[in-house]
Amino acid sequence: MEWPDHGGQPKKILELKGINKDDLYVDFSANINPLGPPMALKESFIEAFNQFEKYPDPNYEEATKLVATHEGVRQEQTLLTNGGSEAIFLVAQQFTGEKALIIEPTFSEYERACHVFQLSVTHLSLQQEDHFSFPLEKVISKMEEVDVVFLCRPNNPTGTVVDIEDIKAVLEKGIECQTTIVIDEAFIHFLPSHITDLAFLIDHYANLVLLRSLTKIFSIPSLRLGYVVAREEMIFQLKRSQIPWSVNGIVTSILPCLVTQHEFIDETKAWLQGQLKLLTTELSRLGFYYSPTLVNFYLLRDLDRQADTEQLFLYLLENNIIPRHTHTFKGLDGNYLRLAVRTEAENNFLLQTLRRWRDRQC
Ligand SMILES: Cc1ncc(COP(=O)(O)O)c(C=O)c1O
Repeated sequence: MEWPDHGGQPKKILELKGINKDDLYVDFSANINPLGPPMALKESFIEAFNQFEKYPDPNYEEATKLVATHEGVRQEQTLLTNGGSEAIFLVAQQFTGEKALIIEPTFSEYERACHVFQLSVTHLSLQQEDHFSFPLEKVISKMEEVDVVFLCRPNNPTGTVVDIEDIKAVLEKGIECQTTIVIDEAFIHFLPSHITDLAFLIDHYANLVLLRSLTKIFSIPSLRLGYVVAREEMIFQLKRSQIPWSVNGIVTSILPCLVTQHEFIDETKAWLQGQLKLLTTELSRLGFYYSPTLVNFYLLRDLDRQADTEQLFLYLLENNIIPRHTHTFKGLDGNYLRLAVRTEAENNFLLQTLRRWRDRQC
């Protein structure tokens, strides 16, 4: 079967499984903030109508300055991209024909980008037995063999977060063996406030490249906006290979509104903490394994019926819930489902449906 590579394709999944549901389903397969987009965006978006007929500034001066100020870095250390995805491909291109390390399971586009630019890829695996924790020693021991390491923090699909001390150890080792460390922080805004992002390390580590996305937190995957934060020379090189006007002028014209959405982000963090508590308490009670996530998605497996993930997947589809399959995540091989954290009503609907799944077996 041709499984879709990403979540957020509910119609395709239902079609593949021959289930006819029209729009009567809840999509738990895409990791998008269900509280968004922020209402404040609406007005800026309407005003942006005037920009439709104009080319964006090819250097995105104003918008880049805004993002850089927001991140506390210099404009020359920042490059706007067409979502985090463009950032991944631009960075991979810099290492054409070289060697990469990817820690799996993780976002599949790192590997795809490496293939496109002929990087040879070594994989290391996170293990459920270790709660998908970061295998620092193993990573360090592989680093001399590679030119670039791709890390996802928080990691998609586990929701786990590499500790700052481990990040520093990897960066130090990278300096020693001339390895670049690419850290994708696409889901950073969902983390509890006490966990820091890594922009403050940019001036300390010349081998650090940070990738960001605004599509998740603000629910704007159709508008697309991401950026890279890295040392000046890296940004200069990335910019040289970027397609002109790659970022659309609509999203840059609503950027001043986006960067002021502190309350929206705080509200999102508070909603998420509440919902994670609700979900994890009940999932444990029902005997499900969930990955120790800190963000808006998690891996799920029925501990009583570990071999029956495919049946659980079908059962959820038939009950109007679209999970994300894990056939395309290396090492998971379809043995887990990835589920997004949705609104309270939707999460309760999921829990109710899982209770019925459990009751059927008793
Ligand atoms: C870890 C990670 N990084 C980057 C992206 C790309 O996001 P976008 O291109 O929409 O900004 C995704 C999308 O799912 C992702 O999961």
